[in-house]
Order: sequence, then C-alpha cells, then structure tokens
Amino acid sequence: MKILSLALAALISASAAAQSTPTVLVDADHRPSQSLNGPWHYILDPYSAGLSDFQGAINKHGFFENREPEANSNNAANNGLIEYSFSRSPTVKVPGDWNTQNIALLNYEGLFWYQRDFDFTPKPGSRTFIHIGAANYRARVFINGQHICDHEGGFTPFDCDATAALKPGKNFAVIAVDDTRLADGIPTLKTDWYNYGGLTRDVSLVSVPTAFIDDYDLHLSRTDHKTIEGYVHVADAPANTAVHLTIPEAHVDINATTDASGRAAISIAPASLNLWAPGNPKLYKVELSSGSDKLTDDIGFRTIEVSGTHILLNGKPIALNGINVHAEAPMRGGRVNTDADVKTLFDWLQQLNCNFVRLAHYPHDERMTREADRRGIMVWSEVPVYWAVHFDDPALLVKAKQQLGENVRRDRNKASVILWSIANETPNTPARTAFLTKLADHAHEIDPTRLVTAALLVRGEGDTKIVDDPLGKSLDVLGTNEYAGWYEMSPEKILNVKWDIRYDKPVIMSEFGGGAKAGLHGPETQRWTEEFQAAIYRNQITMLSKIPQLRGTTPWLLMDFRSPVRLLPGVQDGFNRKGLISDTGQKKQAFTILQKAYKENALAKPE
Ligand code: GCU
Repeated sequence: MKILSLALAALISASAAAQSTPTVLVDADHRPSQSLNGPWHYILDPYSAGLSDFQGAINKHGFFENREPEANSNNAANNGLIEYSFSRSPTVKVPGDWNTQNIALLNYEGLFWYQRDFDFTPKPGSRTFIHIGAANYRARVFINGQHICDHEGGFTPFDCDATAALKPGKNFAVIAVDDTRLADGIPTLKTDWYNYGGLTRDVSLVSVPTAFIDDYDLHLSRTDHKTIEGYVHVADAPANTAVHLTIPEAHVDINATTDASGRAAISIAPASLNLWAPGNPKLYKVELSSGSDKLTDDIGFRTIEVSGTHILLNGKPIALNGINVHAEAPMRGGRVNTDADVKTLFDWLQQLNCNFVRLAHYPHDERMTREADRRGIMVWSEVPVYWAVHFDDPALLVKAKQQLGENVRRDRNKASVILWSIANETPNTPARTAFLTKLADHAHEIDPTRLVTAALLVRGEGDTKIVDDPLGKSLDVLGTNEYAGWYEMSPEKILNVKWDIRYDKPVIMSEFGGGAKAGLHGPETQRWTEEFQAAIYRNQITMLSKIPQLRGTTPWLLMDFRSPVRLLPGVQDGFNRKGLISDTGQKKQAFTILQKAYKENALAKPE
C-alpha cells in the first residue's frame, strides 16, 4: 500500500503549482448549489495505474483525462492505447463510503477513482467552487482533465475554486480518493473504527460573486450577554468594502466595512436575545450581505465558559448528560450522511434523556451539528488525533492544525458545539504533550469563545484512579476515559474505585462502559450478556456520582459499530459491541439504566 501513497504524494508534489489551495466556505450548506450527488462511475486502482507509469513516474495521461478507447483510436497520447474506461465501469452512490455499497468493496483500501459527467451554465461575474463535505482520506480533484486541488483529512469539508476549468454545457469531474492508512496520517495506522473510504459526504458546485462572504463568526460576548461580537470576512474584496448584517427578530440591522485583510469587525449592542440552551434551542435567522453576495444562517446565541470546577452555560453551572456517537449509520451501516440517519441518532439521544453528545473521534457530517443546534443538544467535537499519532513529526502538527481549523471554520457559528477536543487516549510522553499543548493553544487562538478538552488516559494505583496527565494544564475541561469492570476488575469491584484528580478543573468522564451482544442473556457474571453490561453501568453510575468535580459523562457508546479489531466470532463478528443499542436498532438493558440515571440527574452535578 505504501507504493500507492508515494505515487499519489508524488503526483501531489509534482504538480503542486497547478493546484489551488482548498478553503472552507462557511455556511456552504445554506448557499444555493448544484448537487453532484448521485451515481459516479468508479475504478479500483490498487496499483495506481491511473496515476503513475510502470517506473513510478507521473502518468501525464492518467485516468483524470477520462478518455474512452473507441473515441481515441487515433489519439496521439499512448499511441492510441487506452486501458481504462469510466463509462464502461460500474457506479457507486455519492455520498457514501464505497465499503458498504458492494460486498466486493467492503475490505478495499487504496486508490479509488470517481467520475461523472454534468451540465453547467456559468453565471456571469461569478466564480464556482466544487464543495466536498468529506473525502476519506486523501483526495485529488480534476474538472475536465484539469487538476483543481488536493486535500488530506477524512472528516472535514473543503472547497476548491473550479472556475477556470468549468465550461458551458458538458463537463466532467474526476476525483481520486485514496484511503490507505498512513503512519504519518491523522489518524494513524491503527484505530478502533472502520476505515470507510470515499466521498462520504455531499458533493456540489457552489457559485458565488467574485468578492463574497467566505467566513464569519457571530457570538455572544462572555462579558456582556447583550452584545454580539465577531467578524465577517469578504474574500477578494478591497478594504472598506461594505457589509450589511440583519437579525430581524432581534431588531438588529447594522453596516460595517472591511479592513485591508477583508475582515469587518462586528459589535452589536444592545441586542436583546433569547439565549440558546438545552430545552430552549432558540435560533435566529441571520442575513449577511456584501455587494451582490447574500447568505442567511440560523444561529443560536449563548456563552460557554469554566469557573473553577464548574462549566457555565450563559453564566449558569450545568451538568452534561451525554453519550459517545460514532458516525455509523443506524441499520444500514457505513458512514452517516442523510437526514434520516441523523434523525434516528438524535431520537435515540433524546429517548436517553441526553443534553450532550460526544461526536467521536472526528468531525461528523454537518447535518449532526445542525440537528444539535435545532434540538438543543450540546456537542463535544473532536479531531482524530487518536492513539499513537507520530507526535515527534512537525508535519503532523501542521496536519492536525489544518483539520482542527477546518472543523472550527465549519462549525464555529453552531451554538450546540461547546467543546473542541484535540485528542483521544494519546500516550503521556514529552513529545505528545509538546505537540498537543501547541494544538490546544491553536484551538484557543482560532476560537476563544469555546472550551478546549481532550480524552485522557487515566493511570491507576490499586483501586485509585489518578488524573495527573501534564496535558491537563492546557485544557479547560479534562476528559478522562476509564473501563473499570470491562478491561480491568469485575463489575462488582467498580464500587471500590477511588479518584485522585490533581486539577481544579471540570471533569467529563468521556468514556466508560462494556460490551454486550444484544439478545444474549445470562448471569451478570457472564461476559457479553446484557446483564453483565447492565451490572457495569449500575456500578459505574454509583461510583462516578461520588466524584465532586464530575460535570459530564459520555459512556462508550450509543450504538455498536464496525471495527477491524473486534474479531470474536458469534459475538463481535467485526463489530465493537459496547453500544447501548445494536447496529440494527435493538436496545440493550443498560440503555434503560442510563436513561433513568439521566432523568434523575444521578451522575454529573452542575455544582
Ligand atoms: C477506547 C477508544 C475507543 C474504543 C474504546 C473501546 O477508549 O477511545 O475508540 O472504541 O475504547 O475499547 O471499545
């Protein structure tokens, strides 16, 4: 697999001049667009035939030219020899991982070519971006045979200016996606989740004026709940460009002008607002315009901060009753990317009496954070700096900052997102702590309005769990993962566990739990029965509720999910079974135990 990555990497570097740098159009999902969703032809290319020749040199006539054999018999290139054809190849649906669309593709990991034709009518005076909601893991985008851009990172959106390559009438797009896991990737080679590859989220064309609003941040001031502050950025506009902002329901109607960087500072006071909160997920229609560009967004206004060991929402202490969710589609499997998938997951969250959700371990489809905004569910959002990332490689910090930046840029105006998580269960080494301290500082710098956290490993001495990871110094809230009753000790011994937390900061128990095969019953001493899992939850709830600074819990996890490291036949069969619900929607006994605990606020306390 390494050869493929070298070929793709070589192609990326060889034509670095040709590519445009991807950006993230904020609020792209609210802009009018031409969808490119639907069937795309595909070619599996495990030996990168479409990228490089037999000696590994870049193939100038690669698959991105989308040639057809019969139409090119006298084609000078390759002396008329064409050994591929998209039109004769099968199709997969976009959006969608390829793995779950065809059993022959379930275990495919490597280079995968997508191609589709589309009609296009350029709008005078506008520019057009190709919007890709996510492509796991590396993507190389071509329009009409022209290289447009490259992107690395499997869970964040990217937008590439395709204006110069698009033409009136018939066009075609070719996107090469390679999901080969990389030692120097984020995440790295080993994860406890399935490496679903492909164009896993929406693809579309978004046309905007030449100078347009590409980024903005509108939030409630932490010091004055009657002031909205932030900025609006107009791309490719001269200084002193006018910006107009209205929030009709809040009687806000203001004008501002951009500075030399294209940014117009925003400060609106007084603004009398109904603040967003669980149980009151108030969203305001916000209208932004500059020149001929207009866009609207639905924004909730609230503040989130810490004070000592408390988490304050709108200045009041809160407790976070949550659970972990992977982006695994209920019933059908594969990546979540439809309104129906999102509705099912949020219906389960509300049945569980959750006001909080940890979107593990990577940014999820934007539909998830939009739904969280609408339903009043607070969100822990995370980048996949997971386990043994190569922390001593400076190039990895660049990649981590890029993925964090794309995640923040996409969701910074979503009230539901209260925490940016920079890592999960990383080893407590000097290189790791130096790397993640920089990443935490970067998160605070690019978004000073939210809290920064990470899920930390907890060390044990006898029955005592000790929380003293040096990374804690850089975090506002400590996430801590522990599996008493599953990976250590029997369920009844959980009740002896004590905690020694060496920070005066809020703690979220970001993982705990155990596995059960739905429908398997027996004594609570028998591993994999629902009764065993239920005993873990009962005793964990009793033990955790005694931690004075526990401000949130997200057990692992809502639903069983596919994982290549869960191999026990007849029980796991390639799935991690720690869900409270099976991958086919069967609730396990532990679901009602946690549901009751949250209804009675028996776990975390606001103060
Ligand atoms: C780890 C990890 C999860 C994993 C879980 C498990 O803590 O964070 O990604 O799936 O525990 O072991 O099931």
